Amino acid sequence: MFKVLFVCTGNICRSPTADAVMKHIVKEHNLSDKIYVDSVGTNSYHEGEAPDHRAVEMAKLHDIDMSGLKARRLEPNDFMEFDLMLAMDHGHLSFMQQLQPPNSKAGLEMFLKYAINCDETDVPDPWYGHGDGFRYVFDLIQNGCDGLLEVIRTQHL
Ligand code: 4NP
Repeated sequence: MFKVLFVCTGNICRSPTADAVMKHIVKEHNLSDKIYVDSVGTNSYHEGEAPDHRAVEMAKLHDIDMSGLKARRLEPNDFMEFDLMLAMDHGHLSFMQQLQPPNSKAGLEMFLKYAINCDETDVPDPWYGHGDGFRYVFDLIQNGCDGLLEVIRTQHL
């Protein structure tokens, strides 16, 4: 099983969107028994909460279901469990780099390095913005997940 963890700040907007989009694509490719997907936040402010309703609505517009997801915080064991931990922005990457135990197996990378023809390096925080921010974030995430699936399929399975 190849295990991927998406990481953002609160685990209620960006990383749960990536979690749901990736699970959807993995299922479409009949790879649910080969690729495991989860998401976490670097802080615990929203622990136990469902995703932000604006992210849920944006996903629903694309026939992607985010129900059932609940925010949780990054924990030390994640570095042992996951093969790839993907940061939504550079702040999340440095946070993970500081916490990573020396014997961890996880690769730490920026998520958008997998997006095709994309100028952005960071998925912007949509939390304080309006609806358009969520649309923009969703499109970036979909692009990143498509590219990520291709790399996992061809290089890790
Ligand atoms: P996320 O968005 O990291 O994409 O889930 C945020 C959600 C909550 C906060 C920040 C970002 N917050 O500061 O509470």
